[in-house]
Amino acid sequence: MKRILLLFYSQSGEADRAATIFREEMAAAGHSVTAEALRPAADYPYPWRSIRRFFDVMPETQLGEPPPIRPPAFDPAAAYDLVILVVPVWFLSPALPIQGFFRTPQAAVLRGRPVMTVTVSRAMWQQGSETLKRLLAAAGARHIDNVVITHRGSPVATLVSTPRTLLSGRGGRLAGVFPEAGVAEEDRNRLRYLAKVAAERLNALDTIDGSLLAGEPAVAVRRWLIGPELLGWYAFHGWAHLIRAAGRLGDAPRAAGVWGFAVFLVAMILVGLPLTLIGTPILYVAARPWLARRAARLSAPTGEASAIRA
Ligand SMILES: Cc1cc2nc3c(=O)[nH]c(=O)nc-3n(C[C@H](O)[C@H](O)[C@H](O)COP(=O)(O)O)c2cc1C
Repeated sequence: MKRILLLFYSQSGEADRAATIFREEMAAAGHSVTAEALRPAADYPYPWRSIRRFFDVMPETQLGEPPPIRPPAFDPAAAYDLVILVVPVWFLSPALPIQGFFRTPQAAVLRGRPVMTVTVSRAMWQQGSETLKRLLAAAGARHIDNVVITHRGSPVATLVSTPRTLLSGRGGRLAGVFPEAGVAEEDRNRLRYLAKVAAERLNALDTIDGSLLAGEPAVAVRRWLIGPELLGWYAFHGWAHLIRAAGRLGDAPRAAGVWGFAVFLVAMILVGLPLTLIGTPILYVAARPWLARRAARLSAPTGEASAIRA
């Protein structure tokens, strides 16, 4: 029996469902689980309703300046064997309340402990996961596994379906063409399988030295998103600085910056998509070793199982 601390933040319930799967499977295998939802001091709206409000969190998310969260209730001095952190992605970064957790005294629980991360996103988790790894390293954690789940449907279709649901709260398939927002049943089943494997391997171990999920289908890196995510991250970073600088002049300049970013994002998608379609085959030929190295880095520490290579 191992003692497990399970921390998550969730708005729509996707990250919550992922956390529940881990809680159930760990408990079923006889482990003791302390589960806690992280809560921002000032809640974010869900559904967001306002486009301005939605995009307004981008600069602080991107620049790593989270507002405070409520003090978590778990005892950071308790002897946990493993921490599981379930992390939604916001603007190619960990969601603000997750970043806020790293600023609390309770984040000391991570020091020297094995940590498994479960990243939940629409499709673009790669850069957020790298930021998460940096936060974990700075907190002194031992990152042993990274599990990734994304919303159903192609990453292009979810550019419409996910924001629609996040902004309006409406579910269902838009125009009968776009996928329903959220994680597919088969991905939840994959998560349950992974949780079961991890729970069983925990029972077989005295100490946790490395990955519990190596060789299992925990993470698949979409090669064609590597370039767009990197470019997007740098663009977001530039806009984040710009909006923050505008904000120092007042609310109206910040609002103008936020709207400018929203328009830029739509334009970037419209221009970027065709360029990605043209550029990807070229990148595959010209930069294959770089893509392979990058995919290996992004999928670490668990690494891709060959059966799910994208
Ligand atoms: C403010 C905000 C920004 C987001 N940015 C991204 C993003 O950059 N990449 C992505 O793949 N998904 C992004 N998403 C989608 C979420 O990661 C996705 O909806 C996830 O399921 C959220 O989990 P939760 O609703 O349980 O918190 C964003 C969602 C929000 C609310």
